[in-house]
Amino acid sequence: MTFQPAAWPRKLRSQEWFGGDSRDHIYHRSWMKNQGLPADLFDGRPVIGICNTWSQLTPCNAHLRDLAERVKHGIYEAGGLPLEFPVFSTGESALRPTAMMYRNLAAMDVEEAIRANPLDGVVLLCGCDKTTPALLMGAASVDLPAIMVSGGPMMNGWFRGERVGSGTALWQMSEDIKAGKMSREDFLEAEQAMSRSPGSCNTMGTASSMASMVEALGMALSGNAAIPAVDSRRRVMSHVTGRRIVQMVKDDLKPSDVLTRDAFQNAIRTNGAIGGSTNAVIHLMAIAGRVGIDLTLDDWDTFGRDVPTIVNLMPSGKYLMEEFFYAGGLPVVIKRLGEAGLLNRDALTVSGDTAWDQVKDAVNHNEDVIRPAGEPLAKQGGIAVLRGNLAPKGAVLKPSAASPHLLTHRGRAVVFEDIDDYKARINDDDLDIDETCVMVLKMCGPRGYPGMSEVGNMGLPPKVLKKGITDMVRISDARMSGTAYGTVILHTSPEAAAGGPLAIVQNGDMIELDMPNRRLHLDVPDDEIARRLAAWENPVVPPASGYARLFHDHVQGADTGADFDFLVGCRGNAVPRDSH
Ligand code: FES
Repeated sequence: MTFQPAAWPRKLRSQEWFGGDSRDHIYHRSWMKNQGLPADLFDGRPVIGICNTWSQLTPCNAHLRDLAERVKHGIYEAGGLPLEFPVFSTGESALRPTAMMYRNLAAMDVEEAIRANPLDGVVLLCGCDKTTPALLMGAASVDLPAIMVSGGPMMNGWFRGERVGSGTALWQMSEDIKAGKMSREDFLEAEQAMSRSPGSCNTMGTASSMASMVEALGMALSGNAAIPAVDSRRRVMSHVTGRRIVQMVKDDLKPSDVLTRDAFQNAIRTNGAIGGSTNAVIHLMAIAGRVGIDLTLDDWDTFGRDVPTIVNLMPSGKYLMEEFFYAGGLPVVIKRLGEAGLLNRDALTVSGDTAWDQVKDAVNHNEDVIRPAGEPLAKQGGIAVLRGNLAPKGAVLKPSAASPHLLTHRGRAVVFEDIDDYKARINDDDLDIDETCVMVLKMCGPRGYPGMSEVGNMGLPPKVLKKGITDMVRISDARMSGTAYGTVILHTSPEAAAGGPLAIVQNGDMIELDMPNRRLHLDVPDDEIARRLAAWENPVVPPASGYARLFHDHVQGADTGADFDFLVGCRGNAVPRDSH
């Protein structure tokens, strides 16, 4: 269906606050004018909110104030009035218990802030993992014209001639310490080399994956995902995005026009092609829920299954986001999908052009970074969705980050009842475990942790690492950092804290992983499983009050995106009358 721009000029939403000579109109304008805004800025031009997740506590987003100024230049230039506002910033590296616990809180903040204020459209400034889905979820539920600018990735880290990928290198080095391959002094020296500049993680972790998802969904201008945070072209992207949102308001081009099922299919395939984060599964389903798109876990397998991973970036590959940008970035990848018949070419984007029109002239400048079709990093990228009596509502695995020899495996379960149990016993040389075992971790799902921690790639026991083994099959209801790797089965649903079968796995049970047939099986008789489930007692004590209680009572399973049950859907932009 072709998008039909609205007629212009017309009276905009912001004029309900600013457009008249009543006491209330004067009240709204007058207070705004204490910022030095001339009277003619309230003449009916588009009023654009700049929703900013800047925070010094979210280091990946600490440069967003500079980008907000660039967005303002573009908005003024195009004849709009920019008004910047802060929202809760979910910083991945510092928030406890998990940034994920606050994604929905931030999304609520974004939604209410946009709806309650005199805005006609919004530019969403984000970067760190959860800030991107939170802003998209909130904006989608209001459905005013919205466009996103990502903060961009950090420059490459370098240590003694080797690339230091955010997160990926940290996990690897900590395993090397346990295996006796690296000294603590070298580890501390490497720390200085990890985060060289402003920006988000420089690997194809969750932040870069989500920035790519935004571009693939059509919610940002083409090229947005990969421009480094400190490159002047990131400022240019911000500037032209400011220009663009003004026209989007005039045209009334809304998230619901862009976030169609076709757009989500494009994003799923793009995630396979970039070797993107498993976290994208959860976030995209939550975003889809806000616009009423029925996206399921199985869609990830259906549409992503045969997409080869062609982007050679850590954690699946070798390079980092800076090199991805120099190679041509995401437009090259999307063009490849289009050439392979794996792109819904006519999907509308915030630019007003189709997905294909935006990328058809993209050029690949480095075929080692973005591989030719015949030489993919992994033939089947994407996300494998596993099912079976251990995961009736599904679990996910990222084949491109796994060890091929473990994708079909039967092993004895070594069970950790929760993350504290794991930490207490994993370094014990008396732990009865070897590399053929299957490590099982419980109580790390949305409700169990709470917030669904990124511990699914639990480190291997030192006694196994010292043998030179670097991977084992691991199963949990947790998530995994997008920068991590391994044969790691995640998001097992229902989670243990919701009484899923994961809760009753015992030491010594045999578990079968059959990735080619998408099967995850607990080799225990059905009547024994039923007996254990009937006897199981939930160790989770609901918090007495506060946000933690709201979270506990309303968070949904990972299989549908872990949104709050009462936040699913679009509630529009209508607001009650003034109370003055
Ligand atoms: Fe913020 Fe990775 S910790 S982007």
